[in-house]
Amino acid sequence: EKDGHDWFMRKEIFEQPRAVADSLLGRRDAAGRLQLDEMRLDDAELREVDKVIVIACGTSFYAGMVAKYAIEHWTRTPVEVELASEFRYRDPILDRGTLVVAISQSGETADTLQAIRHARVQGSKVLAICNTNGSTIPRESDAVIYTHAGPEIGVASTKGFLTQLVACYLLGLYLAQVKGTRYGDEVAEVMDQLEAIPAHLETVLSRADEVYALAHRHVATRSVLFLGRHAGYPVALEGALKLKELAYLHAEGFAAGELKHGPIALVEEGLPVLCVVPPRGRDQLHEKMVSGIQEVRARGARTICLAEEGDTTIEPYADDLVWLPKVPVLLQPLLAVVPLQLFACELATALEHDVDQPRNLAKSVTVE
Ligand code: F6R
Repeated sequence: EKDGHDWFMRKEIFEQPRAVADSLLGRRDAAGRLQLDEMRLDDAELREVDKVIVIACGTSFYAGMVAKYAIEHWTRTPVEVELASEFRYRDPILDRGTLVVAISQSGETADTLQAIRHARVQGSKVLAICNTNGSTIPRESDAVIYTHAGPEIGVASTKGFLTQLVACYLLGLYLAQVKGTRYGDEVAEVMDQLEAIPAHLETVLSRADEVYALAHRHVATRSVLFLGRHAGYPVALEGALKLKELAYLHAEGFAAGELKHGPIALVEEGLPVLCVVPPRGRDQLHEKMVSGIQEVRARGARTICLAEEGDTTIEPYADDLVWLPKVPVLLQPLLAVVPLQLFACELATALEHDVDQPRNLAKSVTVE
């Protein structure tokens, strides 16, 4: 049942190319336009949306953080992202023009469920992004985009996260299409890039042994930092969460630009710092990230960099390098998170922890 893998989690990590491909299947009509059949909100309703609020917990929340970068860029509609457990208690401003997007793999998370109930009472439309057919959250929502990850057994979410990202991208592109924003014309191009992701994931997974070797070199570490910028920032947070959950290590993710505002004080000789390097582009993102990496390394950190293939500028500052296929910055989380999943899984295995059933955790959290 684990297809020759030692853990369900590892099996599920290796299922990600298929899970992403399945979540993209049948989304374009004969004319190449995006269609979200199961969605149950009509285009007129979606054209009225003037604000999006994404609510979720844990890993699903990090998918929501990536969604903010993508949906705002493609639709020019403001997107807020909020932890479901905080949302209700701050008296959020909601009205008919607000689309609340609830992301939940299980569809049963109590905090997320209570948050959508609150949103609907206030008159907002709720769209669920969910992996579990017939679960409570999609049943209580106005619309749903199902992810097609297949059952996720490992407590730590992996393929659930990747397929949530795909659903968020689809939602952003669909909104751009119905609202007719500038990026509406680029939907086909981004869909082509998304459809190339499963093959890129195979490439990343074919290098798993390099990541495992890295994990074994860090079995004695007590603390690990993760740095990212832009869409790579939620990836850093997710990498840190995976390591906390599975290896029970102190792990923290930071936006690289925040380093000098405090966290750099944590850096000491030998501290491993995993860095998600954005692709080289017209903006300053890449250069700024490289200078952040230089700074932590100058203070003794051991830098492990995930960077785009052929990015030679990073080589002088990386103690270790994991190459990622070249994709646009907004889609990079789909690839960059995978070595972090493999790193946490392997490190936890080396420490003899139960990867599928980490201590104190349950797969679906049905109490608030
Ligand atoms: C982390 C993890 C949790 C869940 C969170 C939300 O690996 O699995 O953080 O992401 O409990 O669960 P869902 O998505 O089922 O609402």
